[in-house]
Amino acid sequence: MTIIRLWLGVTWIYGGWFKASDGQFLTKGAPNSFEAQLNGMIGHSPISFALTHMLEHATLFGWFVMLSEFAIGIATLAGVALQAAALGGFSMTIILWLSVSYHVHPYFLGSDLPNLVLWAAFFLMVRGSNHGRGRRDGGLIPNLRDRREVIRIAGVAVTSVIAAFAGGSFKPKPKAVSHVVAKVSEVSIGQVKEFTALDGSPAILFRTKAGVFAYSRVCTHQGCTVNYQALGNVLSCPCHGAKFDPTNGAKVIAGPAPAPLPKISVSIQGENIVQI
Ligand code: FES
Repeated sequence: MTIIRLWLGVTWIYGGWFKASDGQFLTKGAPNSFEAQLNGMIGHSPISFALTHMLEHATLFGWFVMLSEFAIGIATLAGVALQAAALGGFSMTIILWLSVSYHVHPYFLGSDLPNLVLWAAFFLMVRGSNHGRGRRDGGLIPNLRDRREVIRIAGVAVTSVIAAFAGGSFKPKPKAVSHVVAKVSEVSIGQVKEFTALDGSPAILFRTKAGVFAYSRVCTHQGCTVNYQALGNVLSCPCHGAKFDPTNGAKVIAGPAPAPLPKISVSIQGENIVQI
């Protein structure tokens, strides 16, 4: 049980931290924002109707998801309201599965289903061990008449908020404004060049006879960095096998990614290729 608890607690805290320290997650209109992720899932998920409603208040839901991940992870590690934390983790993972990894094939390549099984097992273990010891505390609904329990839950809530703001202070600072992606002479026609976009994310530039174009290299599935494969002329994600066609708007041609790679505007200005 300790190993499962450690895995789930650390993973959920890391999930919260990953979002809190991402400069784009809560920024409306940013390519990696929660809003953009929701947009990418709508139309592919069996709960699209619910995601559409969430889209209207994407920033608010983004905060809710981030704080919930911190709270569930911290409560799990600290042993506070464990049954409620396990049920929260289980519920959250069902939503993640239905919205993010529902179409992953074969099913075991996605991480949400295994996590769902772990949360269910953890919940049953906590429930079983409480009953075994005849404990009244740590039930599904925390005993709010127990002052110590209330203080422990408040501690989890405060720590979650502090962690979210601490993560925010680690957001990558925008690079000094330098729009130059490459010198025209460095990228011959038919060549590609990886570069760092203005928002600090990895990107890739293509130069063809018709001009230049570029895409973010952040996979629209779960954020891994895609690589260019000259053989086949595809952008390929090493995590779950998504493939994108750079000659056709970086549309998804294989794998679980729900949306094309975001386009980055570039143009040739004099002897430079610049991001605009
Ligand atoms: S992160 Fe899953 S396919 Fe790219």
